[in-house]
Order: sequence, then C-alpha cells, then structure tokens
Amino acid sequence: MNSRPIIPGVDWVGTVDWERQYFDAFMPLPEHTSYNAYLIRGSEKTVLVDATEPYLVDVLMARLEGVKKIDFILSLHAEQDHSGGLPAVLEKYPAAQLMASPKGKEFLSTLLPIPADRIQAVQDGETLSLGDKTLRFIHIPWVHWPDTLAVFLEQDRLLFTTDFFGAHLATPDLFASANEARVYRAAKRYYAEIMMPLRNMAQKNLEKLQGLDAAMIATSHGPIYDRPEFILNAYRDWMSGPLRNAVVLPFITMHGSTLKMVTHFAECLAARGVAALPFELLHADTGDIAEELVDAATLVLGTPTTLGGPHPAAANIAYLVNLLKPRLKFISVIGSYGWGGRSVEMLTEMLSGLKAEALPPVLAKGLPGEADLKALDDLAGLIAEKHQSL
Ligand code: FEO
Repeated sequence: MNSRPIIPGVDWVGTVDWERQYFDAFMPLPEHTSYNAYLIRGSEKTVLVDATEPYLVDVLMARLEGVKKIDFILSLHAEQDHSGGLPAVLEKYPAAQLMASPKGKEFLSTLLPIPADRIQAVQDGETLSLGDKTLRFIHIPWVHWPDTLAVFLEQDRLLFTTDFFGAHLATPDLFASANEARVYRAAKRYYAEIMMPLRNMAQKNLEKLQGLDAAMIATSHGPIYDRPEFILNAYRDWMSGPLRNAVVLPFITMHGSTLKMVTHFAECLAARGVAALPFELLHADTGDIAEELVDAATLVLGTPTTLGGPHPAAANIAYLVNLLKPRLKFISVIGSYGWGGRSVEMLTEMLSGLKAEALPPVLAKGLPGEADLKALDDLAGLIAEKHQSL
C-alpha cells in the first residue's frame, strides 16, 4: 500500500472500507466509506493528520512504511473512526507530539484512553511551523462533536475539515471532480444524517471557513474537493436554499388499508404538481429518506394503528426525523384503525422538536371509503396550496 500524492509535500495515507454496512449502528452505508489520513512534510517537520479505524490501522501503517520520523500527530476529531488507530501509531512513533482541540484532548483521554499528558491542546488561531509550511488550527465545534478541529495549510491553501463536508463513499478516486454527481449524492446523504441536526453550528463554521478561500478541502470521509465551491455551494443550498415542492411519505401497511390510502394520496399530490416520495418502511433505506428530508417541504406519515398507537416502523421513523431536525414546514399523518387508538397524538408528540405546522390528519376505520378518499384529496389540495408560499 503506497501513499498517494495530493500536492507536493502532502500525501493521502488513508484507508478505504469497501465492506462496512452501517455507521453508528443505524445509518446504512450503501456506498460504504473511507477514513482519510494525510501526511504533510515540511522542510523541518512532518505531520500525520488522523489515524483511521483501528481495524484498518495496518493499512495506514503500510502507507507510512519508509516514514522514519513523525514530529506531530493531529487528531482533528476523537470519534473512533479517526482516532482508533492512534495508540498503534503512537507506539510506532513514540517521539511524536499528539495535538487536538481542548475538547479533543478530553475525549481522547477518556474514550481511548490516551494519557492526557501525552496530548497538547491547541487554541483557535494557533499556528505550527513545519519549516517551509505553516499550519493554522481553526476550532469548528459541533460538526459534529464538540471537539471538531480544522487545519489550514497556509502556503498551499489546503483545508482539512475532518467530518465537516464528508461523504460516506468508498472509491479509488482521490478527487471529487472525478465524479461530482456521485459525490454530491453521498455528501448530501452524509449531511442529512450527521450535520443537519446541528445545522446552526454548521452554518457558523461554514462562514468561518469560507473566508479562507481554500484551494482544496480535504475531509475525513470521501474524496478531496479539488473544486471547493462545489461542496460549499451545496452546503449553502442544503442549509438555507429554497424548499422543494415535495412530500416525503414514509408508510407501513398491515392489511392493505393504509397502502390504499397512500396510493390514492400520492396520486392526488401528483395531479396537483406536488412531488410525492413514498417509502415503504419494511424495506426503505432510512438514509434515502433522510436525504429527501434535507429540502422537502412536507412530511406525511402513513401508518395503521397497532396496539393503540402507530406501527413501530412509523414510530421509529418519526423518532429519527425528530432527531435529524429537517427544515420541514408541514407535517401530517394518514392511516387506518380498527377500533380506536392514539396514533396521531403519539406521532405528533414524537415530532414535537420540529418547527412544522401540523395539517389535519386523515384516519380511516378499516378500508378507506369514499369520504376518506375525499379527505385525502382535500389534504393534497391543502398541501399544494400551502406550498405556493414556499
Ligand atoms: Fe467520521 Fe464523527 O467521525
């Protein structure tokens, strides 16, 4: 395994995980992922940025073969996919000084653990000279942990942003420009699952970084952005661009009544020019739903009543949506029941973290009749009317 040059003096020494199926045990990874690490060689000092997942540390070590001395190891984020290999790296390079943000120091010393006196905390704006190259540390907290730290290589205007702007994408391509359409999709999904819940902090950090006029942005997952405006513009759109005239429609059905309602409702929306995006929850990829929620205006959950409340699959997605905090303007519930229940109240409560207007629900007793289908048509009409103001 060789290191791969990015620009003179800076190599990619990361790992590609071609098999990983889930991140944090709930985010599906249809395109798998990578854990980037970088080696920066100045005229006097050498720096390693991050250390990958522990189960791939042998690959990192192989890429570092022939590197006799590392002076500094920067841990930009203490989550294990970037820090888990640190103990092995520190063992191989015992003289290297480990550096992290103050919060990073705290987490590394409690999570791995690495002795706190082995870690130097760096302040926002502090610089580190490597001889002919200078690194500037920039605190970018909460993208997505309190510890996240960026580093700017001043002479080359190369910006390392750890998870911020990342994409879970396993690819041999070093640069995003090799296939920007594919990277866009992976980065949007990544944003939805990891950055969207902390959108306000992401916005502040975006403003802090964009003044640097970086020539390249190197994150800790996915290819390097050799056209930074590609990802910066995408983030601006996702955080504050116009919402789409679209309804995300996750649903589950037990005996077909809710399915009939969802089918009719989706067609009513389409007839009014509103994009309907149904997701059958037994088989849907929750990352696909999260991605659509980045800029859709409305969420309507379809669920039968099960043991007095929503079906567990509908409750699960409501819980997840509430965590992800999309910019939704409107929410509603449609579905069926046999003899009663509190599905609407329970789902509305579960979505109470959103700043969305609740529209009238449509619940049918058993198979939907003419009046129920008419109510669905009216709800579609109301949504189309509300979306006029987007
Ligand atoms: Fe890629 Fe938050 O770790």
